[in-house]
Amino acid sequence: MQDLLFELPYSWGLDVVVSQALMLLRRVLLLGPAVSIAVAAPSAFPATGNGLWYTDVGGFWTRWWLPVGNGYLAAMTPGGTYQEITQLNIESLWSGGPFQDPTYNGGNPLPNQTTQMADAMQAYRAAIFASPTGDIDNIETLATDAGDYGSYVGAGFFISNLNTTGPVTNYARWLDLDQGIARASWTQDGSDFTRETFCSHPTQACTQHVSSASGSIPSSSFVFSSDLEVSLPTPNVTCLNSDTLMVRGLAGEPGMLYELLFHVRSTGGTVSCSQFEDSEGANATVSVTGHNNITETWVSWVGSTEFDLDAGDAAHNFTFRGADPHAALLDLITAPAVATASYSAIRSQHFADFDTTFNTFQLDLGQTAQLSTPTNELITSYEYNTGNPYLEWVMFNFGRYLLGSSARGTLPANLQGKWAGNVSNPWSADYHSNINIQMNYWSAEMSNLDVTESLFTYFEKNWAPRGAYTAQVLYNISRGWVTHDEMNIFGHTGMKAGGNTAQWADYPESAVWMMIHVWDHFDYTNDITWWKSQGWPLVKGVASFHLDKLIPDESFKDGTLVTAPCNSPEQVPITFGCAHAQQVIWQLFNAVEKGYAASGDTDTALLEEVRAKKAAMDKGLRIGWWGQLQEWKWDQDMQNDTHRHLSHLIGLYPGYAIANFNPDTQGTLLVNGTNTTYTKPQIIDAATTSLIHRGNGTGPDADAGWEKMWRAAAWAQLGNASEFYFEFTYAIYENFGENLFSLYDPFDAFPIFQIDANLGLPGALLNSLIQAPDTETYSTTLTVKLLPALPSAWNTGSIKNARVRGGMTLSFAWKDGTPTNASIQVDSSVVSRPVEVVFGGKVVDSFTTSRGMKRTITKF
Ligand SMILES: *[C@@H]1O[C@H](CO)[C@@H](O)[C@H](O)[C@H]1NC(C)=O
Ligand SMILES: *[C@@H]1O[C@H](CO)[C@@H](O)[C@H](O)[C@H]1NC(C)=O
Ligand SMILES: *[C@@H]1O[C@H](CO)[C@@H](O)[C@H](O)[C@H]1NC(C)=O
Ligand SMILES: *[C@@H]1O[C@H](CO)[C@@H](O)[C@H](O)[C@H]1NC(C)=O
Ligand SMILES: *[C@@H]1O[C@H](CO)[C@@H](O)[C@H](O)[C@H]1NC(C)=O
Ligand SMILES: *[C@@H]1O[C@H](CO)[C@@H](O)[C@H](O)[C@H]1NC(C)=O
Ligand SMILES: *[C@@H]1O[C@H](CO)[C@@H](O)[C@H](O)[C@H]1NC(C)=O
Ligand SMILES: *[C@@H]1O[C@H](CO)[C@@H](O)[C@H](O)[C@H]1NC(C)=O
Ligand SMILES: *[C@@H]1O[C@H](CO)[C@@H](O)[C@H](O)[C@H]1NC(C)=O
Ligand SMILES: *[C@@H]1O[C@H](CO)[C@@H](O)[C@H](O)[C@H]1NC(C)=O
Ligand SMILES: *[C@@H]1O[C@H](CO)[C@@H](O)[C@H](O)[C@H]1NC(C)=O
Repeated sequence: MQDLLFELPYSWGLDVVVSQALMLLRRVLLLGPAVSIAVAAPSAFPATGNGLWYTDVGGFWTRWWLPVGNGYLAAMTPGGTYQEITQLNIESLWSGGPFQDPTYNGGNPLPNQTTQMADAMQAYRAAIFASPTGDIDNIETLATDAGDYGSYVGAGFFISNLNTTGPVTNYARWLDLDQGIARASWTQDGSDFTRETFCSHPTQACTQHVSSASGSIPSSSFVFSSDLEVSLPTPNVTCLNSDTLMVRGLAGEPGMLYELLFHVRSTGGTVSCSQFEDSEGANATVSVTGHNNITETWVSWVGSTEFDLDAGDAAHNFTFRGADPHAALLDLITAPAVATASYSAIRSQHFADFDTTFNTFQLDLGQTAQLSTPTNELITSYEYNTGNPYLEWVMFNFGRYLLGSSARGTLPANLQGKWAGNVSNPWSADYHSNINIQMNYWSAEMSNLDVTESLFTYFEKNWAPRGAYTAQVLYNISRGWVTHDEMNIFGHTGMKAGGNTAQWADYPESAVWMMIHVWDHFDYTNDITWWKSQGWPLVKGVASFHLDKLIPDESFKDGTLVTAPCNSPEQVPITFGCAHAQQVIWQLFNAVEKGYAASGDTDTALLEEVRAKKAAMDKGLRIGWWGQLQEWKWDQDMQNDTHRHLSHLIGLYPGYAIANFNPDTQGTLLVNGTNTTYTKPQIIDAATTSLIHRGNGTGPDADAGWEKMWRAAAWAQLGNASEFYFEFTYAIYENFGENLFSLYDPFDAFPIFQIDANLGLPGALLNSLIQAPDTETYSTTLTVKLLPALPSAWNTGSIKNARVRGGMTLSFAWKDGTPTNASIQVDSSVVSRPVEVVFGGKVVDSFTTSRGMKRTITKF
């Protein structure tokens, strides 16, 4: 992802040099002579080391603050002492869209432009096929101004003041990844204080609590601040009643309405709310008083907006507008589990839910917890290739924590999960769908994290309805639906004009790629009820569109069907038969074939058409003049192209068109007029050549973490443990901040947070330990490889309760690089399919799955 619309400093060559020097200096200082003070993780920090900890209050948000969230709400905490400033998010708080412009139509042409668009499309196609090199300069006529596209917006700051004054000693703060809670502890005025912050999914509320080991705590006050978020319109802050602060504001002017309710409670203290006038108008403070009688004080907050996912279709005129959130929030904040339960009961409920969600799956990399080195020192002294299994293990758990804590609401995890602190955030903190959102979900199925519901519902209610209009008006296709790369929460489905439209926006395969996630969910779970009601209709809609969009190749005239115009995501030429598009559409058609029987659909004509066009289509796999896997059907790849995306290698990872290449169905084609059949080794060699030439993910075009994580996963897929570990550790070395957030521009003074590499990390790591890429048919043997690219740093370890497609739960352990035992439990609802388990190139077990089957493997 890289976008001209979001102006980034582009010539930062010098900056890089300077900051690298600074970084080096920092490393030297950190590793320098024995001046370091002995520190130890706080005693309440998990003994396993499963968390992040620091010895100072967090400074800069992007690098130091720590995230909590339940999907509906998110918050960032610096771990303050007598004053805590918590930055807030509400998942649906966006500027733009119909809330700003009632005529907003998702960046699409108007109905009366249908003919003009259809004519332009035909003209572009004709020009491509007439071109001697099969390409054209632009497709600007198809693009539409993005209009009020908007941005995900931060929901202000909440300030808690504790009436302490003395010097602070004994300070620590940490994020506990076993329990999903942030804590800070310090000594002041003779008391040992602890503040805890977490967001509970069952109650949809976040809670922040202060107590002291000595039993009593001083008085406190609580206010809301919009001033700390530049350009956020000042909301109305009032007392809802004596213990609840109410914030009602707008995301813009005009803009979406949001509300936050903060309910303050105390044991031993008296809670009161007072309203006052300040320069901005009405404002309010909640106070807790009671000399020496207060043993604990806490605040629970809920928040929401008037955005309604159910109002994003033609029947609702695409208003996306629902009810005023007040009544629903009142229900949440007065629910007994929030309003009357004891603090410890509220917390226990969260712990139990967190445990079930996150801890069913367990990874062990043979790591040794480093409990005397704060996380910031672990990351700044980290070296690529050398690595640090302990930190890598923490980052794996942190990635799953971030995904689960941001995706479990009503909208999926965006480019910053749900953590963003400004009115206008990088790339709108939207849903870029040409690798970024995909990568967010890489680890979900295999690491047994059941958090995809909001993703699929978002496709159904936000993408599909207006995507059907786009199919009609932009492509003159009346079946199914289409989306492009950049998506907001207001059904932006058009091709976004600006910069070079083709590179950024001509990506009608975004939904195709996302449908592979939909298919995978079914393949992992065999949840037929879900498939019938949501999965299959989504997959069918997107496949229908592409059946009509594929056209005969008039350039090579080889009888194949191709897409045109196309380019690789974020990379020109604008041409036809792009490898990425052809591979991913082929995979989608396989999903239709495999999922048809379970769908209950009786549309046999569709099935036949998919089969016929799948057979006829170009498979997007050809080997070019320098032995590369071609990115375009014309052999024009440059050997020095180190582009950040690995688009044409999608079939290697996360797809399977390359990884499970089948010469019989994918390999025969005309190359320069000669019938040719590629073998699998030839295709794998070509993919390897392309991957090598793509470089290490630090090119002149970007230095982002996600491009390295993608390379890491691809190297693992090739079974190359050392290249895998290099890219994996290089990403960590280069792109991650002190709070382990992945940074787009790590050497910038104020770098940009981009969550994709955080969430891609567990996926890439897993791909070195377990691989079971999909197969074209159910009758093709599913190969499950154990430890296919195990780096020696992780020579001993275990995995508990991983999921494998085909409805299997896999647990295994390894020692000295070799599995010691493995067990597979097959679900009670599966499609029977042949499976082989492979270690070190040797089949160690093979079977055909059946309901409830158990396998134990002890010989490797
Ligand atoms: C639907 O929205 C359009 C603008 O996109 C507006 O002109 C029209 O009046 C709206 N119709 C209804 C019934 O609200
Ligand atoms: C298309 O419709 C829009 C709005 O409905 C109108 O303003 C415009 O003039 C129309 N254009 C043409 C070419 O008819
Ligand atoms: C804060 O503490 C000081 C000293 O203990 C006390 O005088 C003052 O009244 C307290 N303020 C509030 C608002 O409780
Ligand atoms: C309300 O008052 C507090 C305390 O003076 C201030 O920090 C805050 O910015 C004000 N709130 C708003 C919404 O301006
Ligand atoms: C804030 O209060 C003013 C004055 O009562 C009112 O006009 C405005 O609509 C309120 N804003 C919100 C977002 O509720
Ligand atoms: C503190 O608690 C004691 C005993 O319950 C009570 O008598 C006293 O009034 C309380 N003081 C305040 C300030 O609430
Ligand atoms: C908000 O934007 C400013 C300016 O770009 C940046 O320095 C700051 O870190 C951002 N704040 C957050 C919380 O993202
Ligand atoms: C195909 O033909 C072109 C033009 O003659 C040539 O440059 C290219 O190397 C050939 N490709 C292969 C794979 O033989
Ligand atoms: C890559 O090679 C081509 C052809 O030799 C050259 O024109 C181009 O400038 C090179 N690009 C880069 C980024 O080095
Ligand atoms: C290539 O093979 C196909 C199918 O076997 C055949 O119909 C076609 O004539 C062959 N073309 C050439 C150029 O050999
Ligand atoms: C990564 O590639 C860039 C560009 O080729 C190069 O400058 C850099 O040294 C490489 N980094 C490592 C760690 O190899």
